[in-house]
Amino acid sequence: ISLKTYNTFGVNAVCEQFVKIEQESQLAALFEQGLFSNDFFVLGGGSNVLFTQDYPGLIVQMNSKGINHFIEGNYIYITAKAGEVWNDFVWYCVDHGFAGVENMALIPGTVGASPVQNIGAYGSELMNIFYSCQAFDTLTGTFTTFSNEDCQFTYRDSIFKSTHKGRFVITSVTYKLALHATINTSYGAINTELAKRGIESPTIRDVAEAVSHIRMEKLPDPSIVGNAGSFFKNPIVDNESFARIQSRYPEVVSFPVDDKHSKLAAGWLIESCGWKGKSVGNVTVWKNQALVITNPGKATGLEIYTVSSTIMNDVYEKFGISLEREVNIL
Ligand code: EPU
Repeated sequence: ISLKTYNTFGVNAVCEQFVKIEQESQLAALFEQGLFSNDFFVLGGGSNVLFTQDYPGLIVQMNSKGINHFIEGNYIYITAKAGEVWNDFVWYCVDHGFAGVENMALIPGTVGASPVQNIGAYGSELMNIFYSCQAFDTLTGTFTTFSNEDCQFTYRDSIFKSTHKGRFVITSVTYKLALHATINTSYGAINTELAKRGIESPTIRDVAEAVSHIRMEKLPDPSIVGNAGSFFKNPIVDNESFARIQSRYPEVVSFPVDDKHSKLAAGWLIESCGWKGKSVGNVTVWKNQALVITNPGKATGLEIYTVSSTIMNDVYEKFGISLEREVNIL
């Protein structure tokens, strides 16, 4: 079947076999049939993947739904099935007054995908509210639970992307949220947006609305223009490299990580190489955010990949920094 509607880049690729999972028991059945012994790939919303060619195996698309929670003191333990759309889950929490996910409103993708790359935005990261997840082990055919610590979260990374890549299918995630909100407006853009709205003591709903507004202004809507959000990670460099770059480019945009490292805004590096809004063939770098590569309609995955390589070369030539792709390349 064609995967065009199953990836937010909207590129055309076909896979040999496709199974939509509504019930977790289907995974055990696939295991029994030996289908996990050959090539397979698990897809949530398809918002962090680039198909550069047809997929010669099985695509498992997680579509299981359901949310339940229990309250203990100030905390809510809320469990959502893998196929729940992340942004719907965020608004479910906001509507119930459960705090902790509001800064991550409008991130594309599903609940099941959320721990894989430790999604994050506007001052929050999934690892701060992740409690545990349940996953199907495609090697043994059994279900396992992973605690926060087990997942070894770091910036845009977890064991599901590194040592355990491709082994586990996340079936549900439990988040630990709070009834009494600690509002986080550490990210400057949120403050600016709240001030514009004349809001002095924001609620979690105000934050979710402000973040959604900022994202809509800055990022292309994947249902209109194909994209997968930030294509690269923001590179983390040591103090020496940072000093070298800053001496030549005092305007470089950076954020402190610890006393030995800084994180550079990849969008700034890419923009500085002249890529913002630039098109090559059917591929366009987003006009408001150079970290986002888009498919306005006719691009193939391979074309997008090729443009990303050219961008990486340019950034390396100019700054001596090797960008790392954040999007999964298949
Ligand atoms: N900038 C430029 N030119 C650009 C883009 C950015 O100069 O074309 C500079 C600006 O100074 C801007 C700064 O970089 O103030 C940071 O940009 P932005 O606030 O858009 O954030 P980002 O670092 O580019 C990261 C995440 C986003 C997340 C935002 C907001 C990564 C790889 N990306 O982007 O996440 O929404 O912060 O928190 O960490 C994603 O992962 O797909 C994603 C969209």
